[in-house]
Amino acid sequence: MFLKAVAGATYGPKADQPRMDQLWTRPRRGAAYAWPMRTVAVALGKRSYPIFVGAGLLSALGRHAADLGLGRRCAVISDGHVAPLYAKPAMASLRSAGFEPLLVSVPPGETSKSLERARACCDLLARHRLERKSFIVALGGGVVGDLAGFVAAIYLRGVSFVQVPTTLLAQVDSSVGGKVGVNLKAGKNLVGAFHQPRFVLCDLRTLDSLPPREFRAGLAEVIKYGIISDAPLFARLERDLPRLLRRDPKALAEVVARCCEIKADVVRRDETDSGVRAILNFGHTIGHAVENIAGYGKYLHGEAISIGQVAAARISAERTGLPPAEVARIERLFLRAGLPAAIRLSAAARSRLLTAMRLDKKVSDGEIQFVLATRIGRARSGEKVPPAFVQRVLTAPARVGVNAG
Ligand SMILES: NC(=O)c1ccc[n+]([C@@H]2O[C@H](COP(=O)([O-])OP(=O)(O)OC[C@H]3O[C@@H](n4cnc5c(N)ncnc54)[C@H](O)[C@@H]3O)[C@@H](O)[C@H]2O)c1
Ligand SMILES: [Zn+2]
Repeated sequence: MFLKAVAGATYGPKADQPRMDQLWTRPRRGAAYAWPMRTVAVALGKRSYPIFVGAGLLSALGRHAADLGLGRRCAVISDGHVAPLYAKPAMASLRSAGFEPLLVSVPPGETSKSLERARACCDLLARHRLERKSFIVALGGGVVGDLAGFVAAIYLRGVSFVQVPTTLLAQVDSSVGGKVGVNLKAGKNLVGAFHQPRFVLCDLRTLDSLPPREFRAGLAEVIKYGIISDAPLFARLERDLPRLLRRDPKALAEVVARCCEIKADVVRRDETDSGVRAILNFGHTIGHAVENIAGYGKYLHGEAISIGQVAAARISAERTGLPPAEVARIERLFLRAGLPAAIRLSAAARSRLLTAMRLDKKVSDGEIQFVLATRIGRARSGEKVPPAFVQRVLTAPARVGVNAG
């Protein structure tokens, strides 16, 4: 029951691996954070790192950072929504561990993921003489994590960084795996690096202040993990959804840790995104196209991939034998989570959607590449689907109901 996490924790029941319920970790003597805490290992050789998951962990930030043996100077990069809420306890924790943190706050929102903003951050770090042994703390959602991680990857040709994700999406997805970057006018995430954090600290209590719509959007990625690789997780989500929507820390701890474990395993097998990692794109081919044609701000990423996942499930029913009853379960879970399961499109919008999909990188020989499920808990990437088929699925009426989001 009180085993420490073992490097190489993977998803799926394997006899030689510890099960998730064996990964409880006892806090060190005098630790200020709440019991229990879960630790998930991301096993990447020399770049391995732990993900800590629990309620109230922010106060232990300094102590964990001290374990890294880095320099005293560091920077906390956050945004204008998160900094007023959590920068004070984060800075206090770092100071009490002997660090001299500098707070850098950027405007909230996707526009902060820019080369200009990264450069401004680098200028500030240089002005405050952060050196090679200094480190950067990313305190915020995926935007802050991608930007701060990118700054850490390029400043002085790379300094250490740690992730303190404060959105559900960032806790289960963007903070794990080392993809960092910024956007160009030509598209999202076109400039970036692979730069793994030294640790990830998921304080579930920070989710309390997250707007409900952002929280539900994060659930779309959570549900995705169930569909692509973990049927028991999917069943748990069906059962525990009301507790999750109430942000019950115990229910959240189980689910966030499990999702991190699944992502950690996929990343371990494909750190630089050349194969297996594609499985994480379930629902994203149509989801990205929905984001593109709807215009900035209409759909959150989680909402768009919710529509994309339901469509991918329907395609899976016909192409990879996903049983119709499981398609219905998938659709129902998204709707219960308050997420949209379908999109009403005019004929013109539908053709723009298909064009957007064709422009996406996942096209070969005119056929669009999809991640499709064979059952809940199992998926395959690289499934070619003709555009006409996608069109047919997008025009089919919803089976359970339309757009509860
Ligand atoms: N690197 C990766 O592997 C990866 C994976 C998925 C997504 N991403 C990126 O992540 C970004 C989206 O991340 P996101 O959904 O976290 O968006 P976000 O960082 O913009 O956060 C959403 C909103 O919530 C606010 N917020 C954050 N935490 C809060 C809290 N605890 N309380 C109150 N408000 C809070 C933010 O200020 C923002 O307004 C995108 O840029 C996407 O490209 C990266
Ligand atoms: Zn996503």
